[in-house]
Amino acid sequence: MEPDFLTNPDIQPEEQQLDVTLRPQTLGQYVGQDTIKDSLLIFINAAKQRDEAMEHVLLSGPPGLGKTTLAHIIAKERGVNIRVTSGPAIERMGDLAAILTNLAPGDVLFIDEIHRLGKIIAESLYPAMEDYALDIILGKGPSAKTIRLDLPKFTLIGATTRMSLLSAPLRDRFGNHYHLEFYTPENISEIIRRSASLLGVVLPETAAYEIATRARATPRIANRLLKRVRDYAQVKNGGVITEKNAIEALHALGIDDLGLDNLDRKILETIIHKFHGGPVGLGTIAASLSEDTETIEEVYEPFLMQKGFLQRTPRGRTATSQAYEHLGLEVPISQRSLL
Ligand SMILES: Nc1ncnc2c1ncn2[C@@H]1O[C@H](COP(=O)(O)OP(=O)(O)OP(=O)(O)O)[C@@H](O)[C@H]1O
Ligand SMILES: [Mg+2]
Repeated sequence: MEPDFLTNPDIQPEEQQLDVTLRPQTLGQYVGQDTIKDSLLIFINAAKQRDEAMEHVLLSGPPGLGKTTLAHIIAKERGVNIRVTSGPAIERMGDLAAILTNLAPGDVLFIDEIHRLGKIIAESLYPAMEDYALDIILGKGPSAKTIRLDLPKFTLIGATTRMSLLSAPLRDRFGNHYHLEFYTPENISEIIRRSASLLGVVLPETAAYEIATRARATPRIANRLLKRVRDYAQVKNGGVITEKNAIEALHALGIDDLGLDNLDRKILETIIHKFHGGPVGLGTIAASLSEDTETIEEVYEPFLMQKGFLQRTPRGRTATSQAYEHLGLEVPISQRSLL
């Protein structure tokens, strides 16, 4: 894994196994997101008592916060099967028909990246969600016929990192919408300690907290950093993790005290050194770093803004005086007078 990918919340191919191992199985094991858990508990129990299929659920929020995990937990807590697919995987009507007609009553169909469903497929989901029916057109032209397939009463759980790309009619057909929030350092610390015990790693609480404060409030990144700290301790300290070697390990990976990685710092340095602190357009920053605009905009900027290092202005991005200070640079007069 490239060092710059350490703090990218998107899942990396070699992590699938770890992700599954560390995934909580029940609502009780799912850390944080208390409002969502409280509401889900009522919702699941109500469906259980009435012995009905649950209403459709939409889960939204940034990558790595636990949407897929929650979808599996909902099915498990309700005691039904879950069938997993994703927006890009359903290419033709036939794919959708095959999936839907194979569900048992009450089952959960989980569609990840639901914003990436094609328009026609998304539209044919409307009657499937509302009336548990799928209209299929057979043939072409004047002789075309529509047949209606009856479907079992199922529960659709959709997950998306990009709510704005979901059409309003599709959004409105979900009875429940939960938006996952970033986690507190205390929650992340608890997640890391849980993961450590699952991996059979002894982890002092202070070390867990040091990792937690550098994990971008994201469970997936937290688990990834834990794994790296464990490797470091194994090589340098006979497998014993301490607060000190946890910090060393994270520094060795290019992650600083506030959780910024190399690319975070490169973004700020580019704005400061090449563009006099900004304002400079996102496209220009991306081009001078040979990076993808979308990654910078969705992954890096929100974090840098949350930390107060970057501002988005109508004329472009600017580095704040805190950014200069964090990088050990003198704050220029022009930048000081702004504050
Ligand atoms: N609330 C939580 N408590 C404990 N562990 C969690 C929690 N949420 C997520 N995790 C851990 O983080 C990992 C990533 O979560 P998950 O795959 O559910 O994220 P996601 O929101 O679906 O991400 P993506 O948008 O990339 O699909 C899981 O394997 C799990 O170990
Ligand atoms: Mg997911």
